[in-house]
Amino acid sequence: MAEAAEILHDLALDVRPLSGALGAEVRGVDVAALDDDGFAAVHALLMQYSAIALHGQEHLTDDDLREFGLRWGKLDVHGYSPTVQGYDDVLRIRSDPQRPGTAEGWHSDVSWKVIPPKISMLHARQVPSVGGDTLFASQYRAYEDLSDAMQTFLAPLDAEHDGRVFDINLIRQPATHPVVITHPETGRKALYVNGGFTRRIKGLPPGESTAILNFLYSHCTRERYQARVRYEPGTLAMWDNRCVQHAAVPDFGTEVRELHRVAVLCDQRPAR
Ligand code: SIN
Repeated sequence: MAEAAEILHDLALDVRPLSGALGAEVRGVDVAALDDDGFAAVHALLMQYSAIALHGQEHLTDDDLREFGLRWGKLDVHGYSPTVQGYDDVLRIRSDPQRPGTAEGWHSDVSWKVIPPKISMLHARQVPSVGGDTLFASQYRAYEDLSDAMQTFLAPLDAEHDGRVFDINLIRQPATHPVVITHPETGRKALYVNGGFTRRIKGLPPGESTAILNFLYSHCTRERYQARVRYEPGTLAMWDNRCVQHAAVPDFGTEVRELHRVAVLCDQRPAR
């Protein structure tokens, strides 16, 4: 297989970075018709930018979305969020006048599972006339900006995550992950705590755990680490949960917004 840079050059993709921290918009790719070199190019882009918006995928069916997801690994069966009828691994993320609401808070998908998703993909089926973007924040950059003293303090710590926002019984099944993880593909370190699911840092008294987590939540989502994806009908947004947090922006009133999501599981537990 050719080198990623060579493939990117040959494919002549239109790649536009979204911010100085992370993210890129990509045109000129059809994810349902990618050969191995094309797949390697998309993989390289995701590793480089951490979150990419592949525009022009209007033709993708739910089966195509699953097939593309399966090229990256096993698919997550979330178990608690509404799915597209007939699929247990394709989530239907829909906001309409009857059921308004989006995943507004910052989070890393399903970090409450022992093996969480490494990659998530959102396929835009219906987008509001304006708004309804998804924000992304680089947890590489957030980690790298911490002082040496804070990095040293966080290095040996583990945190508990749970999915109580989906089912209160999940309080009793927390998953423990390092506060700082090493990305198994890039080798870079990233913060891995999020306001949606992380509950406490193990081994610290509650007051200290809460203070440190609150500091990290506000630090790791600063504007300087962010990029914003604006959807077009057919946009496929995908991101790497091992180094990115995301949040939906519910600024579109009662308009309909529908995205279909698949998430690809990590190959191993997040590790330091
Ligand atoms: C999600 O958290 O996966 C959904 C994000 C969004 O609706 O933009």
